[in-house]
Amino acid sequence: MRIDKLISEAGLASRNEAAKAARKGNVTVNGEEVKDLSRHIDPEKDVVTFFGEVVEYVKNVYIMMNKPEGYVSSTDDPAGPTVIELLPERMQAWGLFPCGRLDKNTVGLVLLTNDGIAAHRMLSPKKHVEKTYLFRLKKAISSEDIETLEKGVDIGDCVTKPCRVEMQSECEGYITLTEGKYHQIKRMAEAVGNKITYLERVTFAGIVLDRTLNRGEWRYLNEEEMALIKPFLS
Ligand code: URA
Repeated sequence: MRIDKLISEAGLASRNEAAKAARKGNVTVNGEEVKDLSRHIDPEKDVVTFFGEVVEYVKNVYIMMNKPEGYVSSTDDPAGPTVIELLPERMQAWGLFPCGRLDKNTVGLVLLTNDGIAAHRMLSPKKHVEKTYLFRLKKAISSEDIETLEKGVDIGDCVTKPCRVEMQSECEGYITLTEGKYHQIKRMAEAVGNKITYLERVTFAGIVLDRTLNRGEWRYLNEEEMALIKPFLS
């Protein structure tokens, strides 16, 4: 890894600022001053300092969280506490962000990462990444309305892409989408004269919400889950 990349990813300076600091002798590798920050080092073994402080190697991390109601899935929002605030303080400087947005009152699976490239790929409409939600409706839905939802429905600013709906009862079911428009499921329900009363994301890119996590709890993705998102990783 390049020295300037290590410094900028640790959030200490831009690459240009790091280069300036290095020219003035403020960057060392294993105790020796370095002027050329394009040099490659092993961030797991070599010790880099910036103005005398050891630079912490921030790796890419991939986390599953069970989002509680009342939290905003962004990094900074005046609308309320963010899911990032549910992480321990030391992790809040790692540049983690949620992969896609859930509404404040939607609960369930949120993937958090600091791998911007992977997030971008997983959210790209071209990748058709599947997300499944458990939903409850205010009133029973007819089979015609289910068919309308599955084929695609006009939600005002667009017609939704085909999706799958599997009802568990008259008012409860699972919906699997490959896109993520603003308030999409709520607007889809409204388009057929109904209303969502509960929404929980249960899968994302094949990763299933771990039910042993209480709302607000999180854990790192395990090996099998990492294998599912491997094609997207940077
Ligand atoms: N659709 C919605 O309406 N809300 C969400 O949070 C996610 C999908």
